[in-house]
Amino acid sequence: MHRRQLFSLAVAAGIVISGSACKKKDEGGGSDAKGGGKADKGEIIIGHYASMTGNTAHFGQDTDKAARLAVEQLNAAGGVLGRKFKIVTFDTRGDGAEAANAVTRLIDVENSTAILGEVASSLSLQGAPIAQRRKVPMVSPSSTNPKVTQVGDYIFRVCYIDPFQGKVMALFARRTLKLDKVAILKDVKNDYSIGLADAFQKAFVAAGGTIAAEQSYSAGDTDFSAQVTAIKSSGAQAIWVPGYYAEVGAIARTAARLGVKVPLLGGDGWDAPELFTIGGDALNGSYFSNHFAPDQASPLAQKFVADFKAKYGQEPTGLGALGYDGVMVIADAIRRAGSTAPAALRDALATTKAYEAVTGKITMDKDRNPEKSVVVLKIDGGKAKYESLVNP
Ligand code: PHE
Repeated sequence: MHRRQLFSLAVAAGIVISGSACKKKDEGGGSDAKGGGKADKGEIIIGHYASMTGNTAHFGQDTDKAARLAVEQLNAAGGVLGRKFKIVTFDTRGDGAEAANAVTRLIDVENSTAILGEVASSLSLQGAPIAQRRKVPMVSPSSTNPKVTQVGDYIFRVCYIDPFQGKVMALFARRTLKLDKVAILKDVKNDYSIGLADAFQKAFVAAGGTIAAEQSYSAGDTDFSAQVTAIKSSGAQAIWVPGYYAEVGAIARTAARLGVKVPLLGGDGWDAPELFTIGGDALNGSYFSNHFAPDQASPLAQKFVADFKAKYGQEPTGLGALGYDGVMVIADAIRRAGSTAPAALRDALATTKAYEAVTGKITMDKDRNPEKSVVVLKIDGGKAKYESLVNP
């Protein structure tokens, strides 16, 4: 589907709320829903900043759907501290300046108790300093770059980080696939991609492997033939592509067209149905790491998948699972804090311990990162299938 079609579809569905236009979607509250947020009565506002449109629209949309499902379930059970939740979402359109803007407005105008977002590490790195300065807790559902939570003590995440994800895939390449020479193709406009390329390289070389070629692109590029041609002549047995789904799909097609038959390997940024619509058969035999495999789910995860399907008529991806967990972890911390006061909520988030989430148990370490398992998926017949699970 074209981006414009997708956008109008989203608008028609009332999903979008957006960027500079300052439009937002309220969940039933209307304009008299004020008085929530950091206040100690009324609805508790969770401010969500997300790429609802643009090149990474799947990230924002899947996360937002799941976050709204979580709020619906929390409210149906009576809410927390006798108060209901409300999600207010602002679209970042995948843009850094919009991300910063969104967080400012979610705090200053919408009076959010906590911020959920972003997915993309580069955008979380734009939003986090604002939440930190205003001392409003932020929980990124799925940003995996280590720098995100290093912004400060109000910044958390509910996913693993890239040094671990990169190492898992490097050892998978080296020990399971028994590869000696791998090429790297990274997005130099993306903090996530740069960090994950580096993590893979270090671990692969440490395990005795060689990097046969290093190539790069910039988010939004559509022609990858020069890079793929260079990689082809390097003798690489696989290509490590730690990017986002749109470019990865196009890279896979380019590789197939140029007769490069080696598998592509990647990380969580591949996680979108559009990966398969863009990349098609060219992705068969490739592998990527993720946070969650719908076909290998715990009972809690199975229930989440069923609820999500019932509400939206489609399967969630890892993004949705983490968005759901992000909201639930915030709600759990508010319950334990007995308050929505920012400092008390921050402290409760920091002491999150063995919380049973859809994507696994969550315990915050001293750097506000949980240690979690990495799932490896294999692409076959245009679908990602569970391959293995690696514990920290
Ligand atoms: N981990 C990616 C980042 O930090 C975002 C992402 C998470 C994308 C999960 C897809 C699935 O930028």
